[in-house]
Amino acid sequence: MTAKILDGTVLAQKLRADFKTRAEALAARGTRPGLAVILVGEDHASQVYVRNKVNACAEAGFHSEKISYPPDVEPAVVLKKIAELNADSRIHGILVQLPLPKHFDSDAVLKAISPEKDVDGFHAENFGALMQGNPRFIPCTPYGVMKFFADAGIDLKGKEAVVIGRSNIVGKPMAMLLMQAGATITVCHSQTRDLLFHTRRADILVAALGRAQFVTAEMVKPGAVVIDVGINRLPNGKLCGDVDFAAVSQVASAITPVPGGVGPMTITMLLANTLEAAEREAL
Ligand code: GUN
Repeated sequence: MTAKILDGTVLAQKLRADFKTRAEALAARGTRPGLAVILVGEDHASQVYVRNKVNACAEAGFHSEKISYPPDVEPAVVLKKIAELNADSRIHGILVQLPLPKHFDSDAVLKAISPEKDVDGFHAENFGALMQGNPRFIPCTPYGVMKFFADAGIDLKGKEAVVIGRSNIVGKPMAMLLMQAGATITVCHSQTRDLLFHTRRADILVAALGRAQFVTAEMVKPGAVVIDVGINRLPNGKLCGDVDFAAVSQVASAITPVPGGVGPMTITMLLANTLEAAEREAL
């Protein structure tokens, strides 16, 4: 079997065209969607992600602001900036790029963001609402993954879904969304005893553990849908996911590539959440 490629670039373009139209309609009524992105430190990958987010805003006709701080900035300075952005009517979404340096209490920073502007969906109030099945904002990466299923007509009801990784950014919200869509979920992580047992019975397998080409063909049930959330760099400098794409695409029925899979969808759903926040405010 050769898997169908779930192309995130194509799907992202389709969605972004719709967002642009909606943003123009909103702008005609006097509101331009606005996103503020806060970056602390000099992590190269974070710098690239933030640049891509700001560029995506410009292409969609959104206002955006990038606020950068040195790695040793006092947390109080960042908290003060968040308070200003909470009160700024041009800003509908606030995102603090993670991870933050070690001297930060990340939960406290995320809680300082107004829940109405928390377009990452990481504030405890929004995370709780998501768990209750009544989300205000769905975290961007799992939201993007759910769009792949909807676009490809993949019904999740009754399916065995296995998520590898238990992060607050991806694994936990991903599992919750899959469960709410009717799948039976298993979350695997570094202490899981028999990973192969779990992955081999997955109809839907989401890899979000952050290890290059970790998921091999023997771990995948023939015909499974495989979603690769990883972005890793091989020693030769090439980007790769958490899945051995060449081998697994011979076993799976559908698979997301890296690059060009989940990555473009994450940024797209950030635009979606920012636009929704602006539309709610303009009601
Ligand atoms: N770091 C890695 N992924 C994300 C994300 O989706 N949002 C934020 N804020 N930081 C991240």
